[in-house]
Amino acid sequence: MKKFAIIFIITVALSGCSWWNKPQEKPAEIIVGEINIIPKPNLITRIGGQFVLNSQTKIIAKNDSEIKLATTLNEILTDYYAFTLEITDQSDVENSITLSILESDNGVISAEGYTLKIEPQYIQIKGTERGVFYGIQSLAQIIPIDASGEISIPAAEITDAPRFSYRGMHLDVARYFMPVEFVKKYIGLLAQYKYSYFHWHLTDDQGWRIEIKKYPRLTDIGAKRRETVVGKNYRPYIGDGIPVQGYYTQAQIREIAAFAKAKYITIIPEIDLPGHSSAALAAYPKYGCKDNYQYKVQTTWGGFPDVFCPTEQTFLFIEDILSEVIDLFPDSPLIHLGGDEVMTDHWKESPFVRGLKLRENLKTESEVQSWFIRRIESFINSRDRKIIGWDEILGEGVGPGATIMSWNGFDPGVQAARGKHNVIMTPSTFTYFDHPQGDTNFEPLGLGDRLTLEDVYKFDPVPPQLNADDSVYIIGAQGCVWTEFMKLPEDVEYMTFPRVLALAEVLWSKQQGKNFVDFSKRLYKEFPKLDKNNVNYRIPKPVGLRNQKFSISEKASVDLASPIPNGKIYYTLDGTNPNQMSNLYQNPFVLKIEPNKSVELKVTVVKSDNRKSPVFVARYSR
Ligand code: ACM
Repeated sequence: MKKFAIIFIITVALSGCSWWNKPQEKPAEIIVGEINIIPKPNLITRIGGQFVLNSQTKIIAKNDSEIKLATTLNEILTDYYAFTLEITDQSDVENSITLSILESDNGVISAEGYTLKIEPQYIQIKGTERGVFYGIQSLAQIIPIDASGEISIPAAEITDAPRFSYRGMHLDVARYFMPVEFVKKYIGLLAQYKYSYFHWHLTDDQGWRIEIKKYPRLTDIGAKRRETVVGKNYRPYIGDGIPVQGYYTQAQIREIAAFAKAKYITIIPEIDLPGHSSAALAAYPKYGCKDNYQYKVQTTWGGFPDVFCPTEQTFLFIEDILSEVIDLFPDSPLIHLGGDEVMTDHWKESPFVRGLKLRENLKTESEVQSWFIRRIESFINSRDRKIIGWDEILGEGVGPGATIMSWNGFDPGVQAARGKHNVIMTPSTFTYFDHPQGDTNFEPLGLGDRLTLEDVYKFDPVPPQLNADDSVYIIGAQGCVWTEFMKLPEDVEYMTFPRVLALAEVLWSKQQGKNFVDFSKRLYKEFPKLDKNNVNYRIPKPVGLRNQKFSISEKASVDLASPIPNGKIYYTLDGTNPNQMSNLYQNPFVLKIEPNKSVELKVTVVKSDNRKSPVFVARYSR
């Protein structure tokens, strides 16, 4: 306790400009509480006193599953604090952390819920196996990151369970290949914030990234592209001349699947069909509908007419691929078939498809697509798995067991829920993390409209037009990370963090009581943990920075606080972009603004390691 107090005092004394060292001043917008957990638990009751965690503390675990979870807790303690605790099966040990796995149907605990009781003498986490895992994540978040030696944890009782069972994040590794270690890091971070699914977008027009033993050309040819168009502009086309390649071997896939399982994350592999298939068709052109056509692994973005031809030999090919995929992901109940953005020009021109339409009484290409998906669905069902697809698979009808990802806004999800399909909400306007996080003048190249941290936080996956009976079909939501403009893991991290934390709270926490300011306070405390994990998160804008209009009699006060611990805020008032040579914000100050005039305040936040936020602009006017 003492040691922590001393560290705390030193931290306060050394911190540059944040609100820590001027506690009596307004606004101190962020008063950080002692129990900061993201996503916010359902109920936290503070009880007096603290538990002191030290090297004598023991973890009580009595069976294999509890011992496995005790090891998980020890791994966290090792990663963050470089120590481990003894695991014992003795009861009634003082200074202990008990992990107790309960059956889920005992009426007390839900399938993913837990209770975390922190008393001065002991800590107890109870829940299902998965629930205890989440309780451990909550406990880990309460332990201060800069603690060492004796760690003081405020006594409290936490009762918690998620709002949605499907709490997902996606990663597109087709546009740019992401290394195995990064995929594991990403999954590990998702688990810390109680995500339950990882949707792995493994194939697309620009690359095929999963080894399929029966069809080696899929990776020999399909996993390589010559180069990539520069920026969004491919008229005129300028290529960067840099080859992109990479795929996961089956051994690597199994390694990642086992890693995810140990983190209670289910992987949903996606093989995108029948469109988004240029890379596959470049490797095996005979499964397309066009002869004498130059299929290639695409080097630009957007849609392509390349599409699988619905012949019997194509179905055999796809079934072979899916058989290997099913085998590689034994714990994945859902196999994602894509189904999005299918261009049907090649089908329209194809004598084979014309014949198929006559034979199967299919009137339109849209019906051909639904027929195609239903064929594959019955194959997947025959292997005891279910299909999931982007909302286009609703098309002209899909089997009742299909789950729908609603990316074209909320409406397809509403339609699907009314049709009694499970729905995962992925409306691009709230969940596409390739959208820029702020002013595009200062953000990396992205797609679509601005999607701020606060926008994500405000997202409600259940559309108001659904009645109570239908809304149970909304089983959750998912953030999507399309990587057209994210070449490297650090680019993915920049676009994903901290928005993924806001989405974690959308997915887990109760809708009532959600509050962005409160979330920002907890987020503030979380950044040092992200630093410890070497996450290249985007530094959010200072607290208190927004466009403001003042009346004649009001003081035009600039009143800011750093969004991260020890962040320095630099600003300009002359329109230039701020840097470390600009004015250092230290205290609130008053701007002189004439009536009907305005002042543009530009700020940047600089971390103690000199990493900078983007420039943020706010207009103060009168
Ligand atoms: C998608 O964004 N094409 C699912």
